[in-house]
Amino acid sequence: MTKPSFYITTPIYYPSDNLHIGHAYCTTVADSLARFHRAKGEDVFFLTGSDEHGLKIQRKASEKGITPIEYVDKIIANFKLLWKRLNISNNDFIRTSEARHEKVVQDVLTRIYEQGDIYKKNYEGLYCVPCESYWLERQLVDGKCPDCGRPVEKMQEESYFFKLSKYQDWWLQFIEENPDFIQPASRRNEMINFVKQGLEDLCITRTTFDWGIQVPFDKKHVVYVWFDALLNYLTGIKYGTDDEMFHKFWPASLHLVGKEIVRFHTIIWPIMLKAMGMEMPKKVYGHGWLVVDGDKMSKSKGNVIDPLGLIDEFGADAIRYFLLREINLGSDGNFSRDALISRVNADLANDLGNLLNRTVSMIEKYHGGIITNAGVTEAVDEDLKVLIATTVSGYVEAMDKLEINKAIRDVWALISRANKYIDETAPWALAKDVANTARLQTVLYNLADTLRIVAILVEPFIPTTSPKIYTQLGLQVPEQFLLEDVVYGKLANGTKVQKGDPIYPRIEVTEDGATIIGGKRYEHAPAPVAAVEEAKGEPVKAVVEPIKPEITMDDFAKLDLRVGTVIAAEKVKKSKKLLKLQVQIGEEERTIVSGISQYYEAEQMVGRNVIVIANLAPAKLMGIESSGMILAASDGNGNLVLADAPGIASGSRVK
Ligand code: MSP
Repeated sequence: MTKPSFYITTPIYYPSDNLHIGHAYCTTVADSLARFHRAKGEDVFFLTGSDEHGLKIQRKASEKGITPIEYVDKIIANFKLLWKRLNISNNDFIRTSEARHEKVVQDVLTRIYEQGDIYKKNYEGLYCVPCESYWLERQLVDGKCPDCGRPVEKMQEESYFFKLSKYQDWWLQFIEENPDFIQPASRRNEMINFVKQGLEDLCITRTTFDWGIQVPFDKKHVVYVWFDALLNYLTGIKYGTDDEMFHKFWPASLHLVGKEIVRFHTIIWPIMLKAMGMEMPKKVYGHGWLVVDGDKMSKSKGNVIDPLGLIDEFGADAIRYFLLREINLGSDGNFSRDALISRVNADLANDLGNLLNRTVSMIEKYHGGIITNAGVTEAVDEDLKVLIATTVSGYVEAMDKLEINKAIRDVWALISRANKYIDETAPWALAKDVANTARLQTVLYNLADTLRIVAILVEPFIPTTSPKIYTQLGLQVPEQFLLEDVVYGKLANGTKVQKGDPIYPRIEVTEDGATIIGGKRYEHAPAPVAAVEEAKGEPVKAVVEPIKPEITMDDFAKLDLRVGTVIAAEKVKKSKKLLKLQVQIGEEERTIVSGISQYYEAEQMVGRNVIVIANLAPAKLMGIESSGMILAASDGNGNLVLADAPGIASGSRVK
């Protein structure tokens, strides 16, 4: 029997800057849904990627004196690092600058052009560069872009237009016949009102810049970034190159997008597909925005939260859990450190962590670690078993309706019930009399089996926790957790538990706002995203170490600091921290081993200029001779940024 398929996408993110916690939110939601559908036994394809073309990126790159591709390569390496650290299980990462995508865009454009749905005219309009959108005077709000509130620029170009207006009636009828296509319903009404005001044809080419995909039938033009970007959903599943794969996954099951880009996904995208004669995606869901302490994130307010910093401090599962549990998918949600800490302590450390810890400890203490279902049941057991069954059905229904936080609440009700079951059955009292051994075994079996079930149910939300629960229960971690195993009684008699560390250490908050987690102290909130790429002027608070004793100019002059270019990089085997770098310094090439692997991926290093202490005596690290050291700023809180010298020739002296 062929498995049902499920194709889910996130928007492809603009690599104009590093991603913040709001972007991480959208991808985490998509990841939890992808994992849930895999657990249902479906064949899942989960796509994310980067939307690289357009004027905004071209301008950013030229401000830095580098090419657009150099600019985006660096940022995309950071995207990939973030997804890896957040345990995002995407099946592919599509970049719109890739040849496979260029081919799809050009083929589609040619096809729609040849059938007469694209025409050329002179156009003057008001353009919002950050949103890459043209607006009509009447659509502006206080003379500014209605989406982002920033000023628009007058632009004039000879452009090609896509006949959106021709499809207006078709669209209204399609939406009427498919009431579930746009969700939540409030966004559907917004879109219907928008279209009823009249659809204008869409300008889909540009001549004022060249960072884009060339229009095949008029090479002066590049394709409008949204027309280009939306097609990523076809490229990602091999449209035009692998029919079997394509037909397996198209139409997409769910495009998950932020509320401000619902318009592109529910009006322009279906009309593009209609013009191509293709089937419509099944659903577009417009989720709400994540705000920080009640405020929209922005660099000028300095409240942009770097998810990597949070992961360093709290761990990926804690961040994922908070985002998924705290926010109603369709509404805006608030991020605050205090709320995150309370959630983790209450739900993960207390409820889940303690349930596991108590259960495994008692099985060790009373039965030498062996789990046995002795079959001596009492009425209270029935209660627990019924709750397991209703939790599972409620959970599946909630996840299918994208009510992720409701599904989580259901699982936590089961966890609470299991904790209460411990108090009700009082295993410590049963343990006092050998006559109760079989009953005690049954009680502890019920708890262990509930934990096994919980581990499967929470995997979509906190994927690194489930294997830890399984391991402590003495179970082999499966390649894929499956919902078909979420049935009471599947835990085998004779399984031997293996007690481990607490899965979630309690987070202590000190009077001065630092956190202490598992014995490690974190001084302050994580650095804003801006610290990594842009806002070099914004100082990040650091743990300031005392300044070392004074040296003379002569002492300094002994140091030979040079610009080096990394030409190859790889992780040092069996080391968490070390990268082995081949560095070109002028004519000379040498090996340098550097402890930066937790902050930089090997691929991120290649092509990067670094500052090298070139006359440092060689040293052996993990058996590899390292000739020199590279410089980085490190604040002792897990933030580390390499010192670099972009655009300076390798071998140049640093003084
Ligand atoms: N490149 C386009 C999407 C093209 S898809 C064919 C784009 N990129 S984006 O990087 O600006 O935004 C990507 C997604 O991140 C959007 O869905 C947007 O809503 C989401 N978010 C950006 N900030 C957000 C929050 N603060 N909260 C939640 N999601 C947010 O648009």
